[in-house]
Amino acid sequence: MILPIVAYGDPVLKKVGEEIDKDYPGLSELIDNMWETMYAASGVGLAAPQIGKSIRLFIVDASPFADEEEDEPDPKAKGLENFKKVFINPIIEEETGENWAFQEGCLSIPKIREDVYRKEKITITYFDENFDFHEETYDGYAARVIQHEYDHIEGILFTDHLSPLKRKLLTKKLGNISKGEIDVDYRMKFPVHKRGK
Ligand code: NI
Repeated sequence: MILPIVAYGDPVLKKVGEEIDKDYPGLSELIDNMWETMYAASGVGLAAPQIGKSIRLFIVDASPFADEEEDEPDPKAKGLENFKKVFINPIIEEETGENWAFQEGCLSIPKIREDVYRKEKITITYFDENFDFHEETYDGYAARVIQHEYDHIEGILFTDHLSPLKRKLLTKKLGNISKGEIDVDYRMKFPVHKRGK
């Protein structure tokens, strides 16, 4: 089932998510619904707060990064052909390397893309959908998507990483997103309702 994606301005996007255990009610159905929702919106990642649940769960399918046909293979897309994973109760244990800029977008903040600087490499521990434990290290686009989704379960949005000036320039656009004054071709839930509507 496709779930509505919560838009910028909803308080659930600012909350720190809670850990879950394997008896979390309806977990596998929730994960299935999140995949369906993410693909319907052509996303590469989706975190539970974005469908209104303040829990430490996100999904990533970074394989679209590997699909781009380029003459020179992009080193940042290495190994992403089949990169599809569920992250439960993750902890980013370490972030290392240089900061690099990448134009990030977010299904909760449609039609805005801005350069965000993050470190190159991460080590993350997490449980998968079967509650098996993993410790893995990523760089390139995989690390980037994971860092963005991890932020969501910490109540952080990519716009929080922008300079105060950049954010100020986006104020009107962000306000319009909260009010639903935006054309978007997937199902969303908007936090602000105008009087008389
Ligand atoms: Ni996002």
